[in-house]
Amino acid sequence: MAVLAHEPVISGSPAVEAVGLRKQFGTVVAVDGIDLALAPGRIYGLLGPNGSGKTTLIRLLAGLARPTSGEARILGTRMPSRPMLGRIGYMPQAEALYPDLSVGENLRFFGALQGAAGSSAIDRVMALVDLADRADSPAAELSGGMRRRLSLACTLVHEPPVLFLDEPTVGVDPALRVQFWSHFRRLAGAGTTILVASHVMDEADRCDDLLFIRSGRVIAHGTGAELRASAATDNLETAFLRFAGLDAEGRPVADGSNA
Ligand SMILES: Nc1ncnc2c1ncn2[C@@H]1O[C@H](COP(=O)(O)OP(=O)(O)OP(=O)(O)O)[C@@H](O)[C@H]1O
Ligand SMILES: [Mg+2]
Repeated sequence: MAVLAHEPVISGSPAVEAVGLRKQFGTVVAVDGIDLALAPGRIYGLLGPNGSGKTTLIRLLAGLARPTSGEARILGTRMPSRPMLGRIGYMPQAEALYPDLSVGENLRFFGALQGAAGSSAIDRVMALVDLADRADSPAAELSGGMRRRLSLACTLVHEPPVLFLDEPTVGVDPALRVQFWSHFRRLAGAGTTILVASHVMDEADRCDDLLFIRSGRVIAHGTGAELRASAATDNLETAFLRFAGLDAEGRPVADGSNA
């Protein structure tokens, strides 16, 4: 089932654009000709089965991988672009922290790398992720959820206008997850554009728009309400099972369209 709930309509310049974006690894086409335009100040949820191309798409948009063809632009600049790195926050799916450095040192390092971060910025993000009392702990000694929190803090420390978050709340406890989402909403309210990959349906419902990808293609795009309507269900999870070509039990539907 391929559904385009609506063509995205954006007034003014998009913050993030992809034109015919494609990435092939050997015989695997991870991203298969994606076009998109993300408006400033909105939160976009990126959903799709394991291996559907979410991480690869984010890495292409953030300029961390080169497309096989097509192009990605951030704030009008073609990626990859070194000067743009300071304007992008990228939280990888697998953490890229320095295990021997403390919480504070990791933040100072990532802040400096991205051309910012006075001590007030570091204190602010440390408080946001509730790690101020662990400022001197080496990253290696944090719990898994705490490392995820530190990784988010490193992504936010330079206050980038464009944020790519790859499953940011995996392993984060429910109270902090709610705080993270309140913060994402505040950032969007201040004009930050956020693309967040997630498998969690209640997080998907907090996004302004959803992009559902399957086999490297955007097969559905719209608000949660629009996607529910397209799939003729009031349940987002059911809608996504349908987009993924699965029945309510998670089994492939008879027409075999889950390839
Ligand atoms: N560096 C790489 N080399 C070879 N193949 C890769 C590489 N990175 C990704 N792939 C392949 O590209 C496809 C898409 O992977 P990707 O990590 O983008 O999926 P994903 O949607 O993020 O999945 P998940 O939900 O599991 O995180 C997969 O088939 C994967 O094996
Ligand atoms: Mg991924």
